[in-house]
Amino acid sequence: MSGEIISETGGGILRLKLNRPDKKNALTRAMYTDLTEALTRAQADDDIQCVVLAAAGPDFCAGNDIADFAQGAAEFASPDVDIESLPVFRFLKALTFFDKPLVCAVQGQAVGVGVTLLLHCDLVVVADTVRLSLPFLKLGLVPEAGSTLLLPRRIGHARAFGWMALGEKLGAVDAFHLGLVNRVVGPDELAAAADDMAATLAALPPSAVRHTKGLMRDAEATWAVVQEEGRIFRRQLVSPEARAAFAAFLSR
Ligand code: COA
Repeated sequence: MSGEIISETGGGILRLKLNRPDKKNALTRAMYTDLTEALTRAQADDDIQCVVLAAAGPDFCAGNDIADFAQGAAEFASPDVDIESLPVFRFLKALTFFDKPLVCAVQGQAVGVGVTLLLHCDLVVVADTVRLSLPFLKLGLVPEAGSTLLLPRRIGHARAFGWMALGEKLGAVDAFHLGLVNRVVGPDELAAAADDMAATLAALPPSAVRHTKGLMRDAEATWAVVQEEGRIFRRQLVSPEARAAFAAFLSR
């Protein structure tokens, strides 16, 4: 583990915390690898009934680390590199096929994959500080993590496309009314609210929970979309528009 993902277990629950608050918990390849390993271990561990994902600091996650994007773009975009060898896709695969319940606690800014990963979680609790944004289009990219399937399915095409294309930041109340989150709490109550949800899930008969999750999610169909998005995303990442957007962010 890089230290930028904190992992703790207890009471049948694995708690994972993004721990890079000085960079708004932007996700690097090392962090995706740590998350993948943690989910893979949790999947195989009969003592783990539920996973909680949370983040240190006032903000949940600023999406993929843009410096990492810029540095890894050539490898990421190369058609000779198998998509499943790339840390982000290994993480997205582990997330898509993870069959135990996932609870996510979100506060402050959540951007890009910091939002699309929520579509894979079973319960989401947010602080009233939350601001959810999907800036893929203005960065010259396409949405990922299966969100082109999961988001319109959840909130309808017009709202999904509008959110992605118009660059709005969604607050907690809107996210609740759209059906993206289960509960809105104050920032100080966030960790306890997520823990309560996780403890309830961990106390249920595990096989009933896993079967229910499996019946409610179509992991194979989602993974097919993640891969198709990935094929386009990889080309877009080296487009002049994406390069210019990354350079602009990095030279602020
Ligand atoms: N990748 C790399 N570094 C990032 C980052 C990212 N995605 N998001 C934030 N950071 C870094 C900043 O460069 C800054 O680092 P520094 O202190 O060394 O200069 C630090 O995190 C704090 O960010 P800052 O922009 O000063 O905070 P803010 O509160 O003003 O704004 C955000 C927060 C999340 C709105 C803003 O940082 C942002 O828009 N980030 C980019 C989000 C993005 O486009 N992600 C990719 C999606 S595909």
